[in-house]
Amino acid sequence: MIGHEKKTTDRTERAVDEASRTGREMPGKDDGAGTSKMALKLGDLAPSFVAETTQGEIDFHKYIDGSWAILFSHPNDFTPVCTTELGAVGKFMPEFEKRGVKVLALSCNDVESHKAWIKDIESFTPEAQVSYPIISDPKRDLAVQFGMLDPDEQDAAGIPLTARAVYVFGPDKKLKLSILYPATTGRNFHEVLRVIDSLQLTANHSVATPVNWNAGDKCMVVPGLSNEAAAAKFPKGFETIEVPSGKQYIRLTPQPNI
Ligand code: BEZ
Repeated sequence: MIGHEKKTTDRTERAVDEASRTGREMPGKDDGAGTSKMALKLGDLAPSFVAETTQGEIDFHKYIDGSWAILFSHPNDFTPVCTTELGAVGKFMPEFEKRGVKVLALSCNDVESHKAWIKDIESFTPEAQVSYPIISDPKRDLAVQFGMLDPDEQDAAGIPLTARAVYVFGPDKKLKLSILYPATTGRNFHEVLRVIDSLQLTANHSVATPVNWNAGDKCMVVPGLSNEAAAAKFPKGFETIEVPSGKQYIRLTPQPNI
């Protein structure tokens, strides 16, 4: 249940003002068919919302509180794929904590249902503890607002199920990554951690990561950095790969934070 109707109205009014001022559509504007016209875009500020969770009421902006944060959604409690995913995230909690990432899940049922489901999740993945909050979104208000619906998977009433969205927000509360999987495909949380490593390297060290990069592999100097700036920034040095064009744009450097 989303609470604080007055606060929500104020925020909505501010978002409308912002939308008309900047010429951008409001994220999550409903198209009337129950699916959102507008998904969050990279660089968008996280929507501000207050929601009931398995760990009490959470104000999302306060929850982020200068940290990295991941919000990921699920179609429904007591469904098989979701059960495996929430267990995997429970197991990976030390990895998220190591990276300073706050974790928040969402599923379209009430808190009582979530709490009963957690027992199944922890029984299915005994090494996991669901120590992170799960948002209750039984009316799919947030799912619609975020544009995380899967029109191909519908409930008995023909309403689209919530897709498997992954949003990573930076400490500035801006969207750094979004991935949207259909309800029927379970996510790979190794990949989610890999992407968070890449995002944090870019944010802190001005490097990009090449195809199939994994932690410890060489990184790439971002194109915006001159050779002089790169030499000053990367004490371990960098190598420039020769290519037929003669352009010096492929520059490799050891991962800077190890
Ligand atoms: C699942 O979590 O198993 C699931 C949910 C919705 C559609 C298909 C699968």
